[in-house]
This record gives sequence, structure tokens and C-alpha cells, in this order.
Amino acid sequence: MNAFTDRSGRAFYAGLLEGLIKVMGMWHGYLFQHGPRVSVIALRLGRSFDLDRQQLSELFFGAVLSDLGMIGLAEEALENPKPSLTEGARTEVQSHPKRSADTVSAIPYLGDVAPLVAHHHEWWDGTGYPHGLSGDAIPLSAQILRVADTVAALGEDRPHRSKLDPGDIRKEVQRALGHEFSPEVGKRFIGLMDQGEVHDFNDTFFRQSMLKAVEHLLPAKISGVNTDQLLEIFAGLIDAKDPYTGGHSRRVAGLSHAVAERMGLDESAQAAIRAAGYLHDLGKVSVPLRILTTPTHLDEAEYLEVKNHPGAGAHILQTIPSLQHLTTGVRYHHERWDGMGYPEGISGGRIPIVAQILAVCDAYDAMTSGRAYRTSKSHGHAMETVDQCLDTHFAPRPAGAFLTLPFEIFHRIKLSEQPRERDAAQPFTERLRTRTRSTRRTARQEG
Ligand SMILES: [Fe+2]
Ligand SMILES: [Fe+2]
Ligand SMILES: [Fe+2]
Repeated sequence: MNAFTDRSGRAFYAGLLEGLIKVMGMWHGYLFQHGPRVSVIALRLGRSFDLDRQQLSELFFGAVLSDLGMIGLAEEALENPKPSLTEGARTEVQSHPKRSADTVSAIPYLGDVAPLVAHHHEWWDGTGYPHGLSGDAIPLSAQILRVADTVAALGEDRPHRSKLDPGDIRKEVQRALGHEFSPEVGKRFIGLMDQGEVHDFNDTFFRQSMLKAVEHLLPAKISGVNTDQLLEIFAGLIDAKDPYTGGHSRRVAGLSHAVAERMGLDESAQAAIRAAGYLHDLGKVSVPLRILTTPTHLDEAEYLEVKNHPGAGAHILQTIPSLQHLTTGVRYHHERWDGMGYPEGISGGRIPIVAQILAVCDAYDAMTSGRAYRTSKSHGHAMETVDQCLDTHFAPRPAGAFLTLPFEIFHRIKLSEQPRERDAAQPFTERLRTRTRSTRRTARQEG
């Protein structure tokens, strides 16, 4: 095993955390750099309060993960050029610190960051959410994060306004002292600004801060169990985006691993295929919820957005050195053996073996899971379909191996989809599903 395929390595684990951060940016185009920008400002403030390395590392992760719970939430409202939210959307948005904290508390090694995340929208005067804490009842790190979050947002273009220049940001901070902001933290920020100590966002600095935070919070050796836990959380967030596919990524990971084993691939290849299974639909996070849940027929533009998801996911993985080996599997998981797939329409042996394996497991799971516009197929019926489509849709070798998997494996993988206590994304999935089913009759795309 090497650094790129060792799924229990720190580099791989840190790469997954970086992937999570990028996925959050992808969820909303204009927020792409928001988390990283908040982290850089928060670190600057944190250092001025003499926070130690441990606290700064937690502040870093708190800043970049604090809006994890926003994925898929109130999306239509946030796309609206007017900055107004309906009552329901407001309630959902106000619950995001709690949801983010639940998810973060389940990420191995980052549990201590959860309280900071939970309080990142509390206001000094007690009018914030979710608990309405006030004054010094709000942890100092969360007071810092509140200032950094707002200041970063003011410096960004948003659908309803242009970014503010530094002079106007200074005025806004001044106005918020004692209301939104702790007077001490707000004044400290103004002081740093006046001394020219607040710099424009810098990618290199962000990366270095990330590496330092990783070195500080993660042990040198990370167990495969912890990596699997992080992969499951990641997959839970991806699946939560599409209300009809709860547990889909986890099942595709389990089935793909079983097929790779059946085909006699070596252990590091099996591990990579399993990880690619968890992450194969990563790019769906950038597909708007209204498209994922749209009635049966998508128009051409909407279908193009759906077809974009393998490339969007691969694009993210490609930018993270320790995850680059997962790129091709993700990019080509919707290609077909006969060349009728997407995104490139490549055929036969030109399709990477990982993608061939993912494709058959993905299609089986789509067939056997219910979709709103049709009932699910039985295991037997789905197996028959795979058999019939061998050589056309599916690559013969992986599909042949798939067909020889004992029923026991399918049964076990299906059972493992019961929500676990540590999987904080699951209740969210359930809620989304209920909400969407009540308003929409059908869902559209597979896999
Ligand atoms: Fe937030
Ligand atoms: Fe897909
Ligand atoms: Fe899929």
C-alpha cells in the first residue's frame, strides 16, 4: 500500500475532510470560498487572543464545517434574489447549527469542535440562534466565529447585493458591537483592520492552515474503522441531497467491494473501490434539489445538470492529491459497455475497471430501491435484468462476478442501512424525504 491507496492513512483521511469542505462550497456556487475565507479571518482573530495551537486548530475546523448542516436546506429560498425566507425555510435555516454540530460530533477526532459549531450563530445580545445565549455564555471561539462569518459574507458578492468595500465593512462591524458581536472581539477586528492586518483571502495560507490543523488534531495512524466512519458520514450527506436515495452510496460501496473481492483484485484496489462507491455520487451535491425531485420528465437543461454530476464529483477529487486515485471511477460510473452512457460515451475496455464495477452495483441498487415514480424491482428481477444487459449496459467480467455473489451479501448490505446512532445525517434524510414526498409526486433520475 502507498499513501494514495492506504485507506487508513492520515493523508487519505485529511483528503476526505478537504473533500467535505469543497463539497460544501460546491453546494452553492457563490459560497464556494466562504468557509475557507471565514477560517482565515477567524485564525487571525484567534491569534490576537493568544489561543493555543489546539484551540486554533479547532477554530479552523469549526469555521470550515459550521455550515455542513445547510446542505440541501431551504435551497430555493437561498437562490431567490430577495434575501427573504418563508417561515418554514427560516426554521430550517435556524436549525443548521444544531444539525452541523450533530454531524461534526460524529466525525472521529473532531468531536470537540461540535460545541463551537453549535453556537456559531449566537448573538452577543441574546437574539441569535439556536439557544439565544448571550454575552460570555457564548464560548470565545464562537464569538470569534460570529465576527469572522459575517465579515467574510459582507466581503462577498451575493445574489441580492454586491460585496462591501473595507470602509463599509468597518462601519457594519462598528454598528454590530454589543448586538451581533462581542464588543471585545469586534473591536479587536477593527484594530486589526486599521493596522492592515486583515488580508485578502489567500489560497496558499488556507492550505497551510489546513495542514497545521490536521497535524494537530489527527493522530499519525488512523484506523480503517475511523476512515469508514468518515466515509459513511460523507456518503450520508451526499445521499441526503437526493431524498429518494437514502443509504444508496453505502450500499454501492458494500456491493462494489464484494465484486472486487470476487474478481480477485488486491486489497488496496478493493479499498479504493469501496471508497469510490461511497463517493461516486459526490457531484450530486451541486445538482439543485428541485431537479433531483422534479416530475418524471426533465427538460434538456435539467438533464444536462444531472449528467454533469460524475464530472463535478471527479473535479473535486482531482484537486485533492490523496483522493486522486478515486477520480476515474467517479467520472465514468455512468458509462455503458456499449458506449451509450455518459458523460463521454466511451465503451468496452476503455472504461476503467473501477467504473465498470460501480456501474453494475449502482444500477442494481437503483432498480431495487423505490423511486417515487415507480415501485422497486425484486432482487430476482434486478438480477435477471443485469444478466440480460450483460455485454450491452454492463461490462461482462464485473457483471458476471456480480451475478455470482451469494444472496447473503445482498441481505447483509440491505440490513446495514438501518440508521446508526452515530450517523447524524440520517434523521435529516428522513425529514427531507417526508417533506419532498408530500409536495412532489415523482422523482426522476437513477443511480
Ligand atoms: Fe452558519
Ligand atoms: Fe451517479
Ligand atoms: Fe449512484
